[in-house]
Amino acid sequence: MNEIENAAECLREGKLVAFPTETVYGLGADARNEAAVLRVFAVKGRPADHPLIVHLADAHQADEWAAEIPEAARCLMARFWPGPLTLVLPARDDVPRVITGGQDSVALRVPSHPVALSLLRAFGGGLAAPSANRFGAVSPTEAGHVHATLGSQIDLVLDGGSCSFGLESTIVSLLGPRPRVLRPGALPLSALREALGKDGIEFGALPMSAPRVPGALAAHYAPATVLEIHACEILAARAAVLLAQGLRVAVLRRDNGLQGQTALPMLTQFFLPAQPEDYARGLYARLRELDAFAFDRVLVEAPPDEEAWWAVNDRLARAAAGHARKLET
Ligand code: TXA
Ligand code: MG
Repeated sequence: MNEIENAAECLREGKLVAFPTETVYGLGADARNEAAVLRVFAVKGRPADHPLIVHLADAHQADEWAAEIPEAARCLMARFWPGPLTLVLPARDDVPRVITGGQDSVALRVPSHPVALSLLRAFGGGLAAPSANRFGAVSPTEAGHVHATLGSQIDLVLDGGSCSFGLESTIVSLLGPRPRVLRPGALPLSALREALGKDGIEFGALPMSAPRVPGALAAHYAPATVLEIHACEILAARAAVLLAQGLRVAVLRRDNGLQGQTALPMLTQFFLPAQPEDYARGLYARLRELDAFAFDRVLVEAPPDEEAWWAVNDRLARAAAGHARKLET
């Protein structure tokens, strides 16, 4: 039996299989098997009312999960599936409510990673797959990250190398009159606008849905290291204050060729690429790496406040918010 068939067999037996997607690694379970889905919640330490995304092999399978597929959803599926877009649609009555966190809507996505697609085709059904990390922590973008954090609790980890996007999918809700972005992510807003028209898309979680979207919690995607985000001009002064307190401080900067203009000679510096897609691809791995150094504080140079950086800025803000309370004390 090859590796994919073996993994599909494990899933049919109700086991948990971590697999690569083009965004981040997912922790997969048979979405129709309630006991297996409950184990996903247990392994992640995820509250039961935070729903999971159902991953499918192709758009035709969406009818097995969604009660209704509006025209705009069909348009987005045709354009962006397989790919890093998740659609929230009204759920059919037979969709286990353990997946939807008790809601009458279900999130669906067809990933484009070849290993994910082969697994989904071999398995034949929907796979509930949250990011393969502990609730609130940084998502894994390499198989080694999954092994390091959840390895002992899951049955199999498929290795598909580093994820090409490195940030979670963009989530769009089709429950309202107009498609609405609930979570910025790997699919850029410009692509959605191009598909739906300039006014065809709205932004931001509805107040009602906010608590149901863990990505929408202020503190999420957080490393163990305490992060602060500051404009480039402020980094040196802030670092001086922290160093004077005797703290071990590092800086995470954009490698945009301007470092020489704001030299920070006293500090250990880490870099991420200057372009948003490249920065996103490396962000989570870099945050994990920083954790291994156990700095008291890492100062992150704020990326530009521009639409192309929305998903990155969103994740950085939540990663820093994870420690807001620690900073107060
Ligand atoms: O890129 C991704 O989306 C990755 C890969 C593995 O596919 N998955 C991922 O899953 O990020 P997770 O569980 O970490 O985040 C799923 C998000 C959560 O914020 C969840 O609340 C939201 O999807 N979600 C799921 N079902 C929903 C629903 N019915 N209504 C609103 N949000 C929903
Ligand atoms: Mg997650």
